[in-house]
Amino acid sequence: MNLRRFSFLAILILLLAFGHESNAQLSPDYYSATCPDAATIVRNVLARTLQSYPRMGASLVRLHFHDCFVQEKGSISNARSSRGFNVVDNMKAAVERYCPGVVSCADILAIASEAAVSMAGGPSWDVQLGRRDRRVANITKANMRIPRGSESLQSIITKFAVFGLTLTDVVALSGAHTFGKGRCLIIRDRLYNFKGTGKPDPTLSLVRLKTLRKTCSVQGALANLDPVTNFKFDNQYYTNLQNGKGLFSSDQQLFSTNMASSVALVNRYSNNQTEFFVNFARSMIKMGNIMPLTGNRGEVRLNCRRVN
Ligand code: HEM
Repeated sequence: MNLRRFSFLAILILLLAFGHESNAQLSPDYYSATCPDAATIVRNVLARTLQSYPRMGASLVRLHFHDCFVQEKGSISNARSSRGFNVVDNMKAAVERYCPGVVSCADILAIASEAAVSMAGGPSWDVQLGRRDRRVANITKANMRIPRGSESLQSIITKFAVFGLTLTDVVALSGAHTFGKGRCLIIRDRLYNFKGTGKPDPTLSLVRLKTLRKTCSVQGALANLDPVTNFKFDNQYYTNLQNGKGLFSSDQQLFSTNMASSVALVNRYSNNQTEFFVNFARSMIKMGNIMPLTGNRGEVRLNCRRVN
């Protein structure tokens, strides 16, 4: 077989393998006729929730990230750490009262994420809508696709690249770690025995090491992802990385790496919040476009926790 024919066949096989899932036709006006107030309803539930649970915005953004990567809420990365399902239930119930059976759970998460980011002081963007919910879940896929806090930068880049997300997307989207919390359990080795050396992670600043050791001395403790402006969505995350204050090694290595392009992005976002906001919004839209089910595929779940 000649090379040109082989390339054509390879592209055809790839299109057949992935084409059935991509074919996105999302649009910001998707519900303008069928449920014009969907976004307002979701925003109102979020605003009420934030009054009592200020961390919830961050938790919903993380849920959306996982939903985009795997459409599965029971994976290892989710099982013990994901929060916010009850808030999604409340949002869904509120939307159902106005427009029953119309707005998917995946879209509610996408709307909630934009709302959470903008309400915390971050950028706004036109949320692309029209996703349908999956009828099947794949835990094996989920566990493979979601990156862990200890994962190497190269491996994270590879996991994002599977979905067409670039290093710029990785660095911009990691900026979501400007708010929310993480379990101390995940960073124990960074504090005491990094990679079996018997010493802490050398890229962690001494100040952050000291405070984290203290915060994390209580069983089940949580640490702020951003120790400086934890409830604000800003570019402080990148300044933290410059100062050795990233919580996970997946964060810190964006700066403490010899990959010059990653370091340059951290420096740019730290210097220029507007550029970070523009890129973050762009990358969120890209992430929200990963493999959406559209048309008559999948379903609009009536209860976000289970298939109809
Ligand atoms: C780049 C690779 C990423 C890795 C390795 C990673 C890892 C993690 C880990 C380990 C946690 C804490 C979970 C726990 O305590 O059990 C976390 C929390 C969080 N992640 Fe990521 N994450 C990544 C990318 C993202 C992206 C793309 C977003 C959203 C755009 C995101 C948003 C969040 C938020 C907001 C929290 C805090 C959630 C809360 O407070 O409930 N992360 N992440």
